[in-house]
Amino acid sequence: MTDSRKILISSALPYANGSLHLGNMVEFIQTDIWVRFQKMRGHDVLYICGSDAHGTPVMLKAQRLNISPEELVTQFSQQQQQDLAEFGIEFDNFYTTHSPENQQLSALIYQRLQQNGDITKRKIEQAYDPVKEMFLPDRFVKGVCPRCQAKDQYGDSCDNCGATYAPTELIDPISAVSGATPITKESEHYFFDLQNYDQALQQWTRGEHLQPQVANLLEEWFAEGLQAWDISRDAPYFGFEIPDAPGKYFYVWLDAPVGYMASLKNLSTRDPNINFDDYWGTDSQAELYHFIGKDIVYFHSLFWPAMLMGAKLRTPTAIFVHGFLTIDGQKMSKSRGTFVKARTYLDHLEAEYLRYYFAAKLSSGTDDIDFNYQDFISRVNADLVGKVINIASRCAKFINQYNNNQLSAKLPKHHLLTTLMAAGDDIAQAYEKREYSRAMREVMQLADQVNQYIDEQKPWVLIKESDKQQAVQDICSLGLNCFRLLILYLKPVLPQLAQRVENFLQIPELTWKDKDTMLCDHVIASFQPLMQRIDKTKLAAMQKATEHEAASEQTS
Ligand code: MSP
Ligand code: ZN
Repeated sequence: MTDSRKILISSALPYANGSLHLGNMVEFIQTDIWVRFQKMRGHDVLYICGSDAHGTPVMLKAQRLNISPEELVTQFSQQQQQDLAEFGIEFDNFYTTHSPENQQLSALIYQRLQQNGDITKRKIEQAYDPVKEMFLPDRFVKGVCPRCQAKDQYGDSCDNCGATYAPTELIDPISAVSGATPITKESEHYFFDLQNYDQALQQWTRGEHLQPQVANLLEEWFAEGLQAWDISRDAPYFGFEIPDAPGKYFYVWLDAPVGYMASLKNLSTRDPNINFDDYWGTDSQAELYHFIGKDIVYFHSLFWPAMLMGAKLRTPTAIFVHGFLTIDGQKMSKSRGTFVKARTYLDHLEAEYLRYYFAAKLSSGTDDIDFNYQDFISRVNADLVGKVINIASRCAKFINQYNNNQLSAKLPKHHLLTTLMAAGDDIAQAYEKREYSRAMREVMQLADQVNQYIDEQKPWVLIKESDKQQAVQDICSLGLNCFRLLILYLKPVLPQLAQRVENFLQIPELTWKDKDTMLCDHVIASFQPLMQRIDKTKLAAMQKATEHEAASEQTS
């Protein structure tokens, strides 16, 4: 195996003003599988995340609920962490952007940009709510679409016809906060001159840090020309005040990615074995990866590396972008009853069904991932339970009943086991490249071969012949050894199942190198059901509950 690598991995920091939904889970599951795979390979891996705490939506929601923004963030952060734990997402640290570490690091980066001459100030005009006395982000101005005349559209784009425009172009605009008619008001803003990094970013983009589709997208953005980025917001705002600029706050997206560093910093102050500079120091040899969705590419592949370059800090090794979750081919939607919350799913179904399903659909590209309920049931029931789990139940019963739970001392010579062992390198490659669907396909093909072997050997027939007892023990011991390998290969995706299998086989925690060993002359436990098929009525109940939630949110 390759030498041990030092790897820092993040998922995007979820906003702390709402509940997680299954779209978010695509990313957490994709990241967690990669983290678990790298850990199983023996690498030195840290998986960090945290809440994205700042911004206008958090501030306004807290006001509506009559609590402080800090309280709101804590509540949602806790709820989200609970959901994530139940989905088997295992962080080394889950922190928050509203932290002293993040404030210091954000200020440090900002000051270095300022010293470079990358920060400029100029006055801009913006929609202002004269009643609430605050500037309004585009999303908080509503009105009639200037193109198709649809009512109640947001200030940046129309849900009905897809037009994009400035909030000042809306017909009959109102403030979504107070209902007042917004006025236009001038204020001084701080800008980060991204153009100063045009050359450096172009070079970085071509340096294998991005998937080809993403690099191509960036080439389009370079061709359009980079614009200065508005990094300040006026009070009232929930965020960090800009150093030496009273009443001005960092825009949430300035300090959000710094939250990755802050989460690591926080972990390193609590754990003496973790040294911040090993990961983020200038001569760090560690690998650094950000998993994100395709909607936030601009922030991670332009603003963020430019901020780091300007601050003379290391840039990410790679950014891994995934597509969006659709449900039955459509965008998740509350009105269609397909906006499934993570909690609602967990109320009805096993987390690992979804982990397996997403793994079976995920590739290294940025294509959208469709959650099709019929396909979900058939893949889990027919493939995972019907093919893989089935091997254990077919073989274990003979070992349990006739061999005192003892596996044969020597396995029969058969190409099957060597085939399964040899497949491990290919499957590892697929995980490494985030081609999980390929890994799952290979595992299922191997499972087919094992089932075929059992079908051919017919231990249930042999057991009736007195001179075939040893043969039955050998066949089933081989079958269970194959099963052990299949579970090893699935372990990054299905850690809970793997743990149940480890208990059943009475073996220590499987790591990747265990693929080269066999279980002989070994006592296993008696077989217990390892995973149930998906019950259709539970899936239907989840759909119903989702529709109810959407309906009650509309009336409240
Ligand atoms: N707070 C920012 C990220 C800051 S990172 C420094 C944010 N938060 S989010 O809660 O809106 O999204 C978190 C992640 O979930 C993002 O990577 C986003 O792309 C992803 N997804 C949100 N909806 C999604 C789908 N429907 N499908 C797949 N991923 C989705 O953005
Ligand atoms: Zn329209």
